[in-house]
Order: sequence, then C-alpha cells, then structure tokens
Amino acid sequence: MTLVLAFMLVCCVAPAFSAHEATKTAVAAPAPATIDDAAILNFALNLEYLEANFYSCAAYGKPIDKELWGGGPAPVGCRKAKLSRKMQLYAESIARDEIAHVVFLRAALGAGAVAQPLIDIGPAFVTAANVALNTTLVPPFDAYGNDVLFLHAAFIFEDVGVTAYKGAARLIANKDYLEAAAGILAVEAYHGGAIRTLLLPIANFKVVPYGVPVSAIIEAISALRNAASGAQVDQGLFNKQGGYVIAPADANAVAYSRTAAQVLSVVSLGGAMNKGGFFPQGLNGLIK
Ligand SMILES: *[C@@H]1O[C@H](CO)[C@@H](O)[C@H](O)[C@H]1NC(C)=O
Repeated sequence: MTLVLAFMLVCCVAPAFSAHEATKTAVAAPAPATIDDAAILNFALNLEYLEANFYSCAAYGKPIDKELWGGGPAPVGCRKAKLSRKMQLYAESIARDEIAHVVFLRAALGAGAVAQPLIDIGPAFVTAANVALNTTLVPPFDAYGNDVLFLHAAFIFEDVGVTAYKGAARLIANKDYLEAAAGILAVEAYHGGAIRTLLLPIANFKVVPYGVPVSAIIEAISALRNAASGAQVDQGLFNKQGGYVIAPADANAVAYSRTAAQVLSVVSLGGAMNKGGFFPQGLNGLIK
C-alpha cells in the first residue's frame, strides 16, 4: 500500500495549489485512477513488448507478430543480430520466452490489454551506451553487431525485469496473477543468470573496436541503472571482493526490487515524463 501511495504521489497527483489559487480553480482535479492488477499486468506487458521485440529482431530479424501489437506501431531499429551458432540458440531461446510472455499477458488482460507502445530498439541502445560510458562511441554502439555486443544489450534489460516483477509483487492482489508473475520473474532471472555466465569468462576482453573491457562497460550500465533508480539495486559482474555476481541481490541473496517509478526511469533513460530511451513516447496504460 505504501508503494502504491508513493507511486501515485510521484506520478499522478496534480501539484498542490496555494489556497489563493485553489479558490480560483473551479474544476477539481480528477481523482487518480486506481492502480489495480490490470494496471500492473499492463505495466509488465509494456516491458515484455520491449524485450520480446528486441530478442525477436536479434534472433529472427523481425519484430513480434503484428497481431500481438494490439494496433500499436512497429518498433524502431529492428535488425537481425550477427551471431555465432551458439549465441543464436541463446537468442532464440530467450526470444521464445519473451514472446510467450507477451501472448500470456495479453490473454490474461483480454480486451483490457494495452497496445504496443512505440519501442526503440535501435538508437536507444546507442544513447544508453554513450550515457553509461559518458562518451560518444565511434562507431556507435551496435546491439546487433556480434555476440559480445548483443550480450551487452541483453544485459541492459533482464536484471531490470527481475526487479520490476519483484517490486510489483506486493501490489498484486489476485494470487493467480501473483503466482504467474513469480514464474515470469524466475524466467527473467534465468535469462539474466545465463547472460552473466556468458559475459563472465570474457570480462577482461576489450570490446572491439572501443578497447574498453567488457567488465567496465557492464559496470557502467549497472551504475547507470543505479543512478536512474536513485537506489543501490544493481550490480555489475563482480562484487567488491572480485567474486562473480551471477545473481545481483542484497546481503541475504534476495533479488532487489524496483518501484514502477524506478523502472520507468531506467527504461526511459531518465527522460522527462518517462518518455525517452526505449519508450520514446512513454508506456501505455495507467502506470507510465
Ligand atoms: C563526463 O565527461 C565530461 C567531459 O569529458 C566530464 O567533464 C564529466 O565530468 C564526466 N562526467 C562523469 C560523471 O564522469
């Protein structure tokens, strides 16, 4: 409940008027719409649209089926990634899961499912990499360029998905939805663990053509997500003692939570009104 209220205060409540202004304001501000289970599932659906389209493009060279867009626009920047045979299998495995999440959430929401928002899976990666590294990479970061670059792009999303589902758990009233969300969280966490496991053995390799080690770029992405969240809810590939971090988590090895506001800040790359980054026009639904 506290989180719901905190979120409403951040996002939805009109700024307080002074007493003087209030007397001049004849029309009361509309009450904020209720953040119910459907609103939370639609928030999740927006994130799944993003992930599903990224992996579908990387693996198959095309967005998710148009019939899953709900009348929304095509994503921007879709390309087939240049992947080794092994990495292609990873990309296909994750793509199947993320597309299934979209199908599942759309079915659970029925007519209440929000349309696919405008999704940027091209230029947004360039911006994310430049912001993370506080530089302008030349050539621009190419999420589809090779195995290593694809893994960096994948790393941006999965940990955020885990923290988003965990943060939303306490807001979901219906236990069937809660159990399903736990299951989706687990799948995102398997993906995140796999991506980290693929990155760890090459952590010291310098990423061509930038000459920056993998671990440094991953650390910068993690730091960017922390900064956008305004909270220490993220970890790179190594802990302070230099040990592997397969599962970013707190001191109890419990996965971190992010509030909806923190997730929005990350996926919009800190854009004003949560528009920008991977969602140039923001998300669809009540939580945006
Ligand atoms: C980013 O780079 C600029 C110019 O190179 C520098 O002045 C600034 O301090 C850097 N910011 C951070 C956070 O490192």
